[in-house]
Amino acid sequence: MTFRGGPVLGIESSCDETSAAVVAGGRILGHVILSQDAHAVFGGVVPEIAARQHLAHIDDVVARTLREAEIEAADLAGVGVTAGPGLIGALLVGVNWAKGFGFALDLPVIGVHHMEAHLFANSLESPDAEPPFVALLISGGHTLLLHATEWSRYHLLGATRDDAVGEAFDKVARRFGLGFPGGPEIERLAREGRPGRYRLPRPMLSTRDGPSDSAYFDFSFSGLKTAASLLAAEVERGGPSAMADALPDMAAEFQEAVVDVLTQKTLRAVKHTECGRVLLGGGVARNGYLRARMSSALQPDGRLFAPPPRLATDNAAMVARLAEHRLAQGEVSGRDLNADPALPFPGLGVKAAN
Ligand code: KG4
Ligand code: ZN
Repeated sequence: MTFRGGPVLGIESSCDETSAAVVAGGRILGHVILSQDAHAVFGGVVPEIAARQHLAHIDDVVARTLREAEIEAADLAGVGVTAGPGLIGALLVGVNWAKGFGFALDLPVIGVHHMEAHLFANSLESPDAEPPFVALLISGGHTLLLHATEWSRYHLLGATRDDAVGEAFDKVARRFGLGFPGGPEIERLAREGRPGRYRLPRPMLSTRDGPSDSAYFDFSFSGLKTAASLLAAEVERGGPSAMADALPDMAAEFQEAVVDVLTQKTLRAVKHTECGRVLLGGGVARNGYLRARMSSALQPDGRLFAPPPRLATDNAAMVARLAEHRLAQGEVSGRDLNADPALPFPGLGVKAAN
């Protein structure tokens, strides 16, 4: 089955957003994101609940998307779906829905990689967000520093050795007694506080060796998380009012530590690759403080691409955009397309540190 051009339906169900979008020629015609709120009481995503919620809502989410795009299912030219990485039950819902839909309507279906889709989120609003660029992909499950020389040619510079940065935001927020997801909560609270009253570590910044040492580009957030937790325990000994008084400054210091690390590692990548075009992707890219710091750090010669907030966190428009790109290149998945919770990043070369 070949792609003849026309609107592409994208489906995203890898975690706790059920989303569908129609994209044509790189433009969004319709887009619905349903963020599952059933997880909030548990303080984190419950995989089994996520899968059931996707199943309950996917038909309606697609129907609303087509209505918004003002097209019929018969007008579609292809279907793209996140095939991984993500939660297996959640992925299976989207992949099987897309395969069934494509089969019924005789449409080409393509499975795409969730983190590569985060790279494409930028091009929906900035058509010139094309390689070459240095990409910092920061989400709840991944922390990746890449050099993209062209689409599908990605060189891995660094990755986290333990927790993903979004995961650190979520866990520290939980320890601080804040809601889920924790990133937006910490950012909101940090606006009322100031960094420096408490001191948290900036992990993996003090490597003496240069780019030949993998620690130069890699990240680690688990020690920072533990340090924030120990700080919370110490402050709590002063009672509830001491904690309430300290929280904004604790949040500001934690955010500052994370942003210091992310900015400095990205600047190292810029220097190493001699590429001043930097692209952010993933849910943590919603963080306004990070965007402001990164943008000023790249002055005067560099350029920052950051997705609009709605397209930074999980959404199907980025999936449809990547699917459109791949289908247009003549790629298509076979009937054997399956959900893969550990899908490898396509086109990712080995470490390009030397
Ligand atoms: O990309 P995403 O929606 O899902 C994954 O693929 O994981 O990212 C979700 C992550 C969560 O950890 C959430 O706390 C974080 O993005 N996040 C933020 C902000 N908004 C969302 N982190 C920091 N600051 C924010 N404003
Ligand atoms: Zn994501």
